[in-house]
Amino acid sequence: MKYSPNKRKVLALETSCDESAVALLSLDNGKFDVIASRIASQVAEHSTWGGVVPEIASRRHLEALPFLIRETLIEAREKMAGLDAVAATVAPGLAGALMVGSVTARTLSALHSLPFLGIHHLEGHLASVYLSDPPPSHPYLVLLVSGGHTELIHVEGPCQFNRLGRSHDDAAGEAFDKVARLLGLPYPGGPAIESLAKNGDPKRFSLPKGRVSRPEGGFFPYDFSFSGLKTAMLRQVESLKELGEPLPIEDLAASFEHVVAEVLVERSLLCANEQGLKSIVLVGGVAANQRLRKMMSEKASLENIEVYLAPKAFCTDNAAMVGAAALIRLELGSNSSSLELGISPRWPLSKGNCFFQPDPPF
Ligand code: KG4
Ligand code: ZN
Repeated sequence: MKYSPNKRKVLALETSCDESAVALLSLDNGKFDVIASRIASQVAEHSTWGGVVPEIASRRHLEALPFLIRETLIEAREKMAGLDAVAATVAPGLAGALMVGSVTARTLSALHSLPFLGIHHLEGHLASVYLSDPPPSHPYLVLLVSGGHTELIHVEGPCQFNRLGRSHDDAAGEAFDKVARLLGLPYPGGPAIESLAKNGDPKRFSLPKGRVSRPEGGFFPYDFSFSGLKTAMLRQVESLKELGEPLPIEDLAASFEHVVAEVLVERSLLCANEQGLKSIVLVGGVAANQRLRKMMSEKASLENIEVYLAPKAFCTDNAAMVGAAALIRLELGSNSSSLELGISPRWPLSKGNCFFQPDPPF
């Protein structure tokens, strides 16, 4: 991508799920700089319910955003007048939660006469890799693994996304969360499983690598299924409990984490090789997992494929990734979204361009 020599600054908000986040970023001659990034996590409150409670999430976003915006501007030593745009995630996610971020951003934009950019949450995750050094060059394959999505996306050029693979049931992060609950670990399950797995034997339990059958026979080569793995974990735990011994929880966590990482890495490499792509990008909450990062880097290097990892701090939901996506949109000439643009709980990544049309899609 060719960048303009003009320095641009954006304030970005992310409120699609259970993290209230605000960031201030600049893009100067192709170099992204996260000047300030704040996250108020609601995880502790939601964990008492075993998952995200949408109404609580909206209320907490509403309470947290004014403080986060103020702190971010102070930390960045910036005023609204010094910015080029305000951005917010507008889809997909929890409707009420998205609404809080979007209305706040649109209000700031109207008050300060700044362009507003509505951003697709997954486009934000994809942009998080531009906050690493060096960033990848197009074309490349992205493995996006979060709590809601597990996808293989061919990125041909800036904002040109073509999905090649997906999960047919649980997302990888969701599988981590459900298996954690099964093992009596807190939400979110990913970090809890990762920390126990460090002391476990990843080869102790042999677990299935779910495949998705094609109606005409064979399998979808780039697709994923984690429901069989979840059931296998449940059976394993039940049969161990019947023996009446303490659960070997570290070995269970390590074996589960290992097989998930293997499936993700093997299918990504197959897809990259068959599609002739020489770079793989890893983004999303599960991309924070060290076993997955290491395995992807090691196995890809054996096949002469470059791996670009989103910085760990910007794998789980944050506003810096939303700001990076907004700066890329500004570079591409998608200068603003309509202030009439609302929010959508479900919206495909491939239709993120619609957010910059004069007639908004929702
Ligand atoms: O990207 P994200 O913050 O939110 C969504 O857009 O979904 O991803 C959250 C997911 C959760 O399911 C969480 O368990 C998982 O990412 N996760 C991890 C790790 N950190 C977060 N999974 C495995 N290992 C981790 N270190
Ligand atoms: Zn996310």
